[in-house]
Amino acid sequence: MGRRILVAVCGSIAAVKLPRLVSSLVQHGAQVRCVLSPRAEQFVSPLALASLSRQPCHLEAHQWDPCQPRPLHIALAEWAELVVVAPLSAATLGRLAHGLADTLLSSTILATQAPLLVAPAMNTAMWDAPPVQGNWQALCHWPRLFPMVPARGLLACDSRGMGRLPDTEVLLQGVRAALATEGVADLKGLRILCSAGPTREFLDPVRCLTNPSSGRMGVAMALMACLRGAAVQLVHGPLSNVPASWLEPLDTCPVTSAAEMGVALAQRLPHVHGVVMAAAVADHAPGVTHAVKWPKEALPNPLPLQDTPDLAADLASRMRRDQWMLGFAAEHGLDRARALEKLRRKGFDWIVLNPVGIAGRGFGNRPNGGSLLWADGRAWELASQDKATMAGAIWSALAGELHQFQRSATRPGLTEGSPHTY
Ligand code: CTP
Repeated sequence: MGRRILVAVCGSIAAVKLPRLVSSLVQHGAQVRCVLSPRAEQFVSPLALASLSRQPCHLEAHQWDPCQPRPLHIALAEWAELVVVAPLSAATLGRLAHGLADTLLSSTILATQAPLLVAPAMNTAMWDAPPVQGNWQALCHWPRLFPMVPARGLLACDSRGMGRLPDTEVLLQGVRAALATEGVADLKGLRILCSAGPTREFLDPVRCLTNPSSGRMGVAMALMACLRGAAVQLVHGPLSNVPASWLEPLDTCPVTSAAEMGVALAQRLPHVHGVVMAAAVADHAPGVTHAVKWPKEALPNPLPLQDTPDLAADLASRMRRDQWMLGFAAEHGLDRARALEKLRRKGFDWIVLNPVGIAGRGFGNRPNGGSLLWADGRAWELASQDKATMAGAIWSALAGELHQFQRSATRPGLTEGSPHTY
């Protein structure tokens, strides 16, 4: 990461989770400093944060220390390339919304020109209270403000609802997204439908045809779009090697077979601006199926197979002119011509060409890479990187174009009334 990140911790019980975030940021190469609100000092140990960040932890009592050459809040505000306010308490939210520079933490945030990632955490009723919501709306109008809405779940007050600090892994991805976009939620206003994971085509209750896709790339695409402000729906097959917390902010629909995935995607299609087809749909399904387990000796050999429906091509035939679709192609030897042929045949606007069969890359929790291709043959190289970072790079390459799509309602290569194919 290699960037200067100021972590501003407010007085909420969720502050006890911050040492993990600080440790993760440092492990990813960030330079981290911490500043605590007076109340936060009671929830989390400054010594723990100082030890994990390898920097002194800045407390309320230090603000006007006569040994400081410059006012501390100005020095910190200017040092930071990103300020992460987590957890943001209702009290500090109110201070910020009303410009009250009455603590070291709030004066630092008010003084900074750096992008701000803000992650509120509080009891659900407090979060829903009209003054708190009013303050939140006011804060969301700040330029370079990257909001992370609270997660749902069990709260420290024993109730269930919205108000949890997002999991450390999700906060970490939020930090990456905020750094990549300079704090601008650049997919805000877009509704995106993503597919991810393999499908399973059952022969009988204990045997199926499938593939080793983990679903990690598709879920990363969905998560990064959501963190960058899009409203995302994710239709996914059985996932493996995907952190459960990545699914928390998403509206998910688990399915099993290609046919189920096709129905779920087609139902959602009319309500979205665009589709990401990252699912590794099984190419074949057994031509015969059995409701109960087939004895081994009775299994048909050879097994008759039937093709599964081509979900992308089917979606393309139903799409409006102002909708877009991004596909993925896994190809041996990074065969660009074959990927472009798939783009045209299936009606994608762009396709990500992924390598298969390269040691250390590909399935699961391994780096990915390749190229993002346009129909006219333009390419954007994607270095070998972890899948969340690669998802961020793909969104960065496309964000401007996606908004333009909605405005112009035209698709490259299409004339008035033509179907969604090239
Ligand atoms: N895809 C789909 N429906 C299928 C198969 C694939 O919608 N039945 C989509 C995938 O989600 C991906 C794209 O088509 O976005 C390319 O998938 P890929 O597996 O590379 O291509 P296939 O059409 O399956 O061709 P092949 O396996 O021969 O390369």
